[in-house]
Amino acid sequence: MSKPIFILFTLALLLGIISGDTIVSVVSTFRHGARSPIDKSSWDLGVWPQGYGELTPEGYRQHYLNGKEMAYRYIEQAQLISPKFSVSEIYIRSTDLNRTVMSVQSQLYGMFSNGPQLAQTAFNQKAVPPLLNVQNQQQAITALGEHALPNGYQPVPVHVVSASYDNMLVGSSIAACPRMAEILQAQQQTDIYKQKVAAYTQGLQKQISQVFGITVSYEVAGYMADTLTTDKFHKFDWPPGVTDEMYYQMYGNQNYTNSYFYTPEASSLAGSQFFQAILDQFDGTISGTSTRKFGFYSAHDTTLIAFLNFLGVFDGNNPIYASTLIFELHNNNNAYAVHISYNGASILLDGCVDPCPYATFKEMMQEKIIANVTEACQLQNDEAELSYNYNPYLDINALS
Ligand SMILES: *[C@@H]1O[C@H](CO)[C@@H](O)[C@H](O)[C@H]1NC(C)=O
Ligand SMILES: *[C@@H]1O[C@H](CO)[C@@H](O)[C@H](O)[C@H]1NC(C)=O
Ligand SMILES: *[C@@H]1O[C@H](CO)[C@@H](O)[C@H](O)[C@H]1NC(C)=O
Repeated sequence: MSKPIFILFTLALLLGIISGDTIVSVVSTFRHGARSPIDKSSWDLGVWPQGYGELTPEGYRQHYLNGKEMAYRYIEQAQLISPKFSVSEIYIRSTDLNRTVMSVQSQLYGMFSNGPQLAQTAFNQKAVPPLLNVQNQQQAITALGEHALPNGYQPVPVHVVSASYDNMLVGSSIAACPRMAEILQAQQQTDIYKQKVAAYTQGLQKQISQVFGITVSYEVAGYMADTLTTDKFHKFDWPPGVTDEMYYQMYGNQNYTNSYFYTPEASSLAGSQFFQAILDQFDGTISGTSTRKFGFYSAHDTTLIAFLNFLGVFDGNNPIYASTLIFELHNNNNAYAVHISYNGASILLDGCVDPCPYATFKEMMQEKIIANVTEACQLQNDEAELSYNYNPYLDINALS
């Protein structure tokens, strides 16, 4: 070995020993995979056998592959969690919708593709249900061999809270948080909002009327872009007359619609329970009082936009299907720090470094966390008649 190479080699070795960095706890939150449009539109040329707002096979696939990457990073590389699924290590929560529940199931099947075997072959004839006369029971048992379930399938427990009470994962909805309506109304009084709507009314709105035959609000034009995105992803044609240029303009409406209501208060109302859950998990890891090492939170673009706004890093782009926001707690020789990434890109918090020392991270989050969101979500002026333009990003029935 030549001298410079030897020095480099020694340095690398030393750095490896000195760094001693390990990942000790992770929270991941993501948007469901590709889905059909939320609602039927008379103009939509897509064909959606699974129904509306449902995960498509392409969406299953996206999350299965996400799961493969999670297995590589956190089972194989970091050795954070066991290769066999363990309820004491992993907590899973989803919004109470078909597509989010199915997304996280697909992801965990990708992560744990090697489900359990019976403890003994003898249980083949013992591990049967009390139902008499299971159809073709012996055939099914023979096909399974010692596998508990076929194809390495590992069932996972997915916890949900009914949507109108879910202030953690759909906290921006008016149903879960009535106060959001007052904030929305106030934001619609701002000059910037009025300018955007005025410009839209003079231009794009007329084009949309011509092509789609309907006159829609600024917000609804943004929501129509969502259906066009869905068509594009699944390779269905757009209605005749819809150009890329028009789509991008409508996407621009969506870009603003998805976040103009995120005042600091609104971000806190929508993000507090989730960020408190991160702190609770990480604190439990550091103090050794909890065995939980991984939290999965399956949700919506709406949810990720709320969390990115809470962190002060939302860039205006609507999160695409299966977008993933990951919080890793690192232990570097008993110095704990948080590394955040969004779709693989590191996130740097304003006022911190990456990774962010845990004490600083915690303090920054606590400054924004509202302890009792239920209380803070009550209307401040329930006498006043609310009047605002409909915004699908706050509608629990239009979650995207
Ligand atoms: C879930 O799927 C059922 C049909 O099996 C449908 O009736 C329901 O509307 C769907 N709900 C949600 C919230 O995804
Ligand atoms: C949406 O917002 C992002 C961030 O501001 C911007 O880069 C992108 O060009 C916007 N897209 C449209 C169609 O306006
Ligand atoms: C939060 O506030 C609500 C409404 O005021 C109240 O019913 C509830 O008990 C409070 N929860 C906690 C944990 O203090």
